[in-house]
Amino acid sequence: MVEKDMVRTPPRLHTLSVLSGKGGVGKSNISAGLSFALADFGKRVVLIDADLGMANLDILCGVKNAKWNIAHLLDGSRSLSEVLVHFRVSGRAERENGGVALLPGGVGLKEIADMDDTQLGRLFASLSALDATADYVIMDAGAGIHKGALSFAYASEATLLVTTPEPTSIRDAYGVIKSLGAAAWAGGVNGAGLLLVVNMATSSREAAEVAERIRLASMQFLGNAPSYLGYVLKDDVINRSVKNCKIFYRTDPDSNAGICVRNLAGEVLRLFEGVDVKRETVPDSVGGMKGFLRKLTKSLFAEDEKS
Ligand SMILES: Nc1ncnc2c1ncn2[C@@H]1O[C@H](COP(=O)(O)OP(=O)(O)O)[C@@H](O)[C@H]1O
Ligand SMILES: [Mg+2]
Repeated sequence: MVEKDMVRTPPRLHTLSVLSGKGGVGKSNISAGLSFALADFGKRVVLIDADLGMANLDILCGVKNAKWNIAHLLDGSRSLSEVLVHFRVSGRAERENGGVALLPGGVGLKEIADMDDTQLGRLFASLSALDATADYVIMDAGAGIHKGALSFAYASEATLLVTTPEPTSIRDAYGVIKSLGAAAWAGGVNGAGLLLVVNMATSSREAAEVAERIRLASMQFLGNAPSYLGYVLKDDVINRSVKNCKIFYRTDPDSNAGICVRNLAGEVLRLFEGVDVKRETVPDSVGGMKGFLRKLTKSLFAEDEKS
């Protein structure tokens, strides 16, 4: 897990981008789940749908007909406070005074998927106004190695790199680490760097093994490695919630996936604020892939192996 001494006097508002190599690995569900889990710990979170080509957090979170979206903020026609959609929280989040607001993406934003530096600058300038009203900004930055997604990583304090145990996902995650270059370790200004999250794992052991494979290859070929933040088990509650346009963490916070996401939130708090949050135990799913990685991942980094 992540070393505490990585933290360097962080600013009050913590910015985290959520990235992946391959699409469909669970970035949006993890971004939203993590936001509501942080709210349970009393944090005020702004969740940004920055996956400009494939925005869908509004649907995932059950927001209907959002009037404005990130495009209006980027073209300067609306202010951040006008664009944010605030969720009503209940239970633990309400008791702890936590909250979540969504900056929705929108359809037809492909043309700004590769946003220029002026737009990115405008977005981050408006975020700095959140300093007094929010504790965390979580940005669902999308998949791939295109400029848009990487710019969010460069500008964030930390980047969560999501992968599944699938070999294709592992290799694409490694591709992102390679593309980020030195920024992966610097993690933007005052950063905690790059943090691995393994999603859809069948066990904690499998997740740890996936993370270790990526870390070893990264260390061997790139001279540095991302830290392992944690994992989320494969859990049907996520599919069910997606179909009902609900965030699994809100409907099933004590499901296996819910507990895993709360543990991730605990790791984030430990890393950024030095708070010691007790890890909850999660029963592993049945099955497992039993050493398949040892056989398969050997060939995954073959390209670098040759050079
Ligand atoms: N831990 C999980 N267990 C089971 N299904 C998952 C899990 N995480 C994500 N999924 C499923 O994977 C699909 C893609 O998830 P999503 O969050 O939209 O990925 P991304 O944002 O990376 O494209 C969704 O249909 C969701 O139901
Ligand atoms: Mg997504």
